[in-house]
Amino acid sequence: MPDNNKDSVRLIMLGDVVGEAGVEAVSRGLASLIELYAADFVVVNGENAAGGFGLTETALKALLEAGADMVTTGNHVWEKRDFWPILDANTSVLRPGNYPGPLPGKGCAAKEKNGINWVVINLQGREYMTPIDCPFRTLDTYLASQKGESPVFYIVDFHAESPQEKEALGLYADGRVAVVAGTHTHVQTADQRILPKGTAYITDLGMTGVDESVIGMDTAICLNRNKTQVPIKMELAVGKATIHGICVEIDTQTGLARSIERINQSY
Ligand SMILES: [Fe+2]
Ligand SMILES: [Fe+2]
Repeated sequence: MPDNNKDSVRLIMLGDVVGEAGVEAVSRGLASLIELYAADFVVVNGENAAGGFGLTETALKALLEAGADMVTTGNHVWEKRDFWPILDANTSVLRPGNYPGPLPGKGCAAKEKNGINWVVINLQGREYMTPIDCPFRTLDTYLASQKGESPVFYIVDFHAESPQEKEALGLYADGRVAVVAGTHTHVQTADQRILPKGTAYITDLGMTGVDESVIGMDTAICLNRNKTQVPIKMELAVGKATIHGICVEIDTQTGLARSIERINQSY
């Protein structure tokens, strides 16, 4: 049982933090969200935290200091080459585990907090994305390799484009993990639910970034890109930011979900 003998615990997961406005929203808002939801553990996707593309040590530190227990990432994690050594050195940051190596970093990490072993798994999809190794088989490998003390709660961030691939992985993991949450599209979906065997699922957490934007980036530039079909360099949008994510209640006896609700909070 957890240290405080609670029969359930709560997890907050936040979607892709985009740029400095996203990091600032997390720095200003996460502590109050943790209090509001009485959260025991927090996972934040930081793949766009540094200027919209990738992570830096400074941005990672800001997310961890704001209250994240684990920072997951995605396809943009490779953008800042200076960050590659941090992927090995820091135990609280993950990259998608199904990239064929050798590459720095890890896609799965365990963290003990208040008597509970949280195991966070970061995978990436292959549909409309780079054809890396199989996320389904990588998930099996990770679950088979974890032999932690009970209770162990498994949290999956599936960074993927295709809703069908995301739902398929959710159902594949159903009953074996507490949560499968999609990231990457930056648009929060309204399909959060408990799957038949007890896993909480949402196709995409949404982003934590500027509201009036195209997935966190400057609208005028994005419109110009779309109209001209020229890959003009995108820049971060400026303005009010919203935190998007979920809160999941997990039964401490079963390690499966009791409820899932969406978080949509402006700062
Ligand atoms: Fe992203
Ligand atoms: Fe992504």
